[in-house]
Amino acid sequence: MPEPARGPLDPRPAVQVIAEYDSPESRARAARRSGLPPEQIVKLDTNENLYGPSPRLAEALSRGCYQEYPDPLQEEVRAATAEYVGVGEEHLLFGNGADELIDLLMRAYLDPGDEMLSFPPTFGMYALGAQHFAARTVEVERDQRFDLPIEAALAAVSPRTRLIFVAAPNNPTGNQVALEAVEALLGTGRLVVLDEAYAEFAGRSLAGQVPDRENLVVLRTFSKWAGLAGLRAGYGVFPLRVIRHLWKLKPPFNLNVAAEIAIRVSLEDRDWLLANVQKIVDERERLISALEEIPSLRPYPSAANFVLCDVEGRAAAEVRASLAARGVLVRAYRDPRLASSIRITVGRPRDSEALLAALAQL
Ligand SMILES: Cc1ncc(COP(=O)(O)O)c(C=O)c1O
Repeated sequence: MPEPARGPLDPRPAVQVIAEYDSPESRARAARRSGLPPEQIVKLDTNENLYGPSPRLAEALSRGCYQEYPDPLQEEVRAATAEYVGVGEEHLLFGNGADELIDLLMRAYLDPGDEMLSFPPTFGMYALGAQHFAARTVEVERDQRFDLPIEAALAAVSPRTRLIFVAAPNNPTGNQVALEAVEALLGTGRLVVLDEAYAEFAGRSLAGQVPDRENLVVLRTFSKWAGLAGLRAGYGVFPLRVIRHLWKLKPPFNLNVAAEIAIRVSLEDRDWLLANVQKIVDERERLISALEEIPSLRPYPSAANFVLCDVEGRAAAEVRASLAARGVLVRAYRDPRLASSIRITVGRPRDSEALLAALAQL
């Protein structure tokens, strides 16, 4: 692609060519557009946890010391999380959401012209992030069942491949990646980033293997299982030779004091939170069965807290808009590969009922 002309006030050419992010609608905006009060909006579009954070959080936050900067070394939260994950704290680094760790990895590994391998349809932040660094995203399409085509993946690795991103389970398709595929990717010797944002719902994590594997990184987050999406608390489990460079790039105070408190409280109250995870997993199966009963919908199995669903006979964007007008938000996509799919977050039974009632009106 020819580089755009650059005037004195224009940013880097790599930034100029980035398309605007297709961001999901906020609750307030959805309320304005539908004419409904914000509290009546059923938000099933961004894979949040509708049970919310620990009930102990509000009181703990009221005692926070907000005039001081947070701990740049993140010592307390790393120690507490090390126990939860079962790895030494020297392998852990927190970010302002797992999103920040994706960015940090790219800042550390991608020079212009380097390659990042990814497997669409998948989480949009990988390809978007690579663009920031004028790196090339090499995409190997998933097969019909959204599994990774291992041979094609291996054939796509080149001398410039620096990072391989795999969401496990994958967003938005919901399926888990086969261990065999992870092994094959690790065998390339490139840095394999396994994004386990939904690990608690899937009941599987490879985080414990990181200390024994020189090229495996696992990303996790408190956004989903602990209901902390709004506080931005994600972390990575890194090999030591990788993490020491990330420390140099990390903004010193990237994890804020409220997030530190919330991480500690969540781990203390993990039984309550993990009971909600189990409720969501149970509800996921109930919701999939209910969606299967609707003739124009074809839900896929899911190992996460959302369900991808093909829509037949109608544009998915139109279904999304009709549901939004009734106060129920689901995700539709501009990506042509997902033009006939919607993604629905699994909430509480009453959220499923609201969705099913709105679908029945369409
Ligand atoms: C696969 C995947 N990775 C990472 C994230 C971002 O997590 P965080 O909220 O910790 O930034 C998401 C959020 O939706 C996701 O789906």
